[in-house]
Amino acid sequence: MTYECISVAREDRVGIVTLNRPKILNALNLQLVSELVHELERLDNDPDIGAILLTGGDKAFAAGADINEMAEASAIEIMKRDQFAVWDRISRISKPIVGAVSGFALGGGCELMMNCDIVIASETAVIGQPEIKLGVMPGAGGTQRLVRAVGLRKAMEMLLTGEPISAQEALRCGLVNRVVPVEAYFREALKLAKQIAAQPPLAVQVIKKAALKAEDLPLQDGMDYERNGFYLLLASEDRREGMQAFLEKRKPRFTGN
Ligand code: CAA
Repeated sequence: MTYECISVAREDRVGIVTLNRPKILNALNLQLVSELVHELERLDNDPDIGAILLTGGDKAFAAGADINEMAEASAIEIMKRDQFAVWDRISRISKPIVGAVSGFALGGGCELMMNCDIVIASETAVIGQPEIKLGVMPGAGGTQRLVRAVGLRKAMEMLLTGEPISAQEALRCGLVNRVVPVEAYFREALKLAKQIAAQPPLAVQVIKKAALKAEDLPLQDGMDYERNGFYLLLASEDRREGMQAFLEKRKPRFTGN
């Protein structure tokens, strides 16, 4: 499939997806989101890919849903489009997604960023949920994920004022993992994605799923879920290889089995 709104590349075992509508700050129109989900699912099913890197441009990761597309649409049209259902598929991607975020990450851009498992931000990042200023509210998980990410008070302030926060503030409140100079954010994120992609693939996916469950499940249910994952991995060939390699003092060769 050829894409118009994203570009794709690959380095080692990392699939790199770049949002590519720079003239309008990577505004997320229906076509972009549909291409993005298509590519993420394709990478998720590719056994030669161990991790995904999601990025935009230096000036904008994404400035939100495409307002041109929403401005004239009726509530019924938007409901019938079910435009946010496709977003739910992003949260079901089983391989880790590392976000490399610079410039504006607003509205749907912030929501997309929150779908990444780890985020490396440039010091120019500007992050927020400004929907209230348009008379609407987040529709792709902003109220729910922001509260979980930064806590109720900080999220309330961001959601009700619509004011963005800086990269440093996002770091302080746990919304991003690291802040680095703009020249370095992509390189740092790629390095991290490659490090994860070199880990045993089954363990990576089972750990990601278990960690995400911590946001939904009561502690004991989460512990039970974790334990089942642990037992499952004990049955893998990569577990045998990992432990054998340790005992033989050599590097393991993981196969994903
Ligand atoms: N949709 C459509 N076009 C957008 C856009 C968006 N979300 N964000 C920016 N653009 C366009 C601008 O219209 C402009 O286009 P033209 O050159 O054709 O005029 C171009 O991108 C450059 O933008 P600016 O000239 O405004 O650039 P700036 O540096 O002065 O300001 C900005 C940057 C602060 C991000 C400003 O563009 C802005 O406020 N954008 C809207 C942000 C927003 O409200 N996002 C939330 C959208 S709703 C949503 O996301 C709902 C959801 O939950 C999914």
